[in-house]
Amino acid sequence: MDSEFFFVAARVLHVIGVVLWIGGVAFIATVLLPTLRSMPEAEKSMALFGAVEGRFKRQAKIVTLITGLSGMFMLTWMHAWDRYLDPAFWWVHLMTFIWLVFTLVLFVIEPFFLSRKLHDKARRNPGNTFRLIHRMLWILLILSLIAILGAVVGVHA
Ligand code: HEM
Repeated sequence: MDSEFFFVAARVLHVIGVVLWIGGVAFIATVLLPTLRSMPEAEKSMALFGAVEGRFKRQAKIVTLITGLSGMFMLTWMHAWDRYLDPAFWWVHLMTFIWLVFTLVLFVIEPFFLSRKLHDKARRNPGNTFRLIHRMLWILLILSLIAILGAVVGVHA
């Protein structure tokens, strides 16, 4: 098996990872949160959000790992780590930044610092908490779409 095969396999895994991960973020930002925010009973929407969030977090951890590792593998295979020094590859910087934000939130900040605080805050003021999470997800979604646009144009230009 030639080494090109591994590069193509990494690219396939990378793009599948991106689709599942950013697709999930888009679903939460554009469908789930607007629905929950429009429900009259805050307690019910909090309970539903908690259940969905738990499952999503597990999946997001796996796809974040797959996307990051495959991206790093491709950079190594292409001997292209010096792209980080070239502003023309702004989309590699942006991809890595988004990946870092999610990795830090999923693996470090949320489990160790945010989880209890966020749930306390959500219990006290569900409206404000949903608004905050919604806004953050929209910002990450827009940045992710810009990174995807930059990557697809950058790779195939
Ligand atoms: C540590 C994180 C990441 C690294 C190191 C990384 C690195 C890479 C590399 C090296 C490529 C191939 C470029 C080429 O063939 O010249 C690529 C492709 C791509 N990346 Fe990433 N990436 C990361 C995270 C992400 C994230 C978070 C997204 C989405 C928001 C993303 C979206 C894409 C897309 C859509 C392509 C495919 C371009 C194409 O073949 O049309 N990547 N990435």
